[in-house]
Amino acid sequence: MRVIDHISDLHFCRVDQRAADALLARLNADPAHLVVVSGDLTMRARRREYRAARAFLDGLQMPWLAVPGNHDITAYYPWERFLDPFGRWQAMIAPDTEPMFEDEEIQVIGLNTVSRGGMHLQWENGNIPRAGLLRVLRRLRRLPEGPFRIVVAHHPFLAPPEQPSTPLVGRGERALRDLVRGGVRLVLSGHLHVGFYNTHAITAEEGDSLTVLQAGSATSTRLRGEPNAYNRVTVENRRARWTAYHWDGEAWR
Ligand SMILES: [Fe+2]
Ligand SMILES: [Fe+2]
Repeated sequence: MRVIDHISDLHFCRVDQRAADALLARLNADPAHLVVVSGDLTMRARRREYRAARAFLDGLQMPWLAVPGNHDITAYYPWERFLDPFGRWQAMIAPDTEPMFEDEEIQVIGLNTVSRGGMHLQWENGNIPRAGLLRVLRRLRRLPEGPFRIVVAHHPFLAPPEQPSTPLVGRGERALRDLVRGGVRLVLSGHLHVGFYNTHAITAEEGDSLTVLQAGSATSTRLRGEPNAYNRVTVENRRARWTAYHWDGEAWR
């Protein structure tokens, strides 16, 4: 059995500090095997925001892995944005924007969906570059079969069931088909500041399916009708179940 706490959209320094402090205490009080952070650790990719995010991560007493979100690349320094968009991330958070965690029961792979911009307009919705998807699929092929496979990305691959017109990550549907064939059974993501889950049924003969689980924002004060939230995922016997916890202003419940 493995337990993963899935947190997202922390958005330092625009956080509810009480919620953030209580979250750190709670995560450490009942430690998961792994904490997964699905992007938007900062608000504007400023150095002080990165320092605050890093301090939060350094407070975690268990392994963690994080992928960047669209807020984690600078909008203020165009040269840096286009030439070295993840330099700050690599200096302050982790050398790899697509980290991996693997043990006998789970395999968790990061996929970087952050787009630095370009000809297409809605860069904040993210994109799955062909090279990035191929990289994940190649990694999956090299891993031993058996453990439960999870991919972590910032942007949503599927829309909330009640909001089908939600903008989604570019090439997401295609990627889901490839990922489920690669044995991935769960995708963890964020960005919308809304928590939900959605099952992507594919047409494969074996009838395998993959679930997309979205976390709300764990600590941001920019909320979209939902309180701060995170997910606790339990993987057992090659199945995952999860519980969402909400901050009610006083405690995580
Ligand atoms: Fe966000
Ligand atoms: Fe985002």
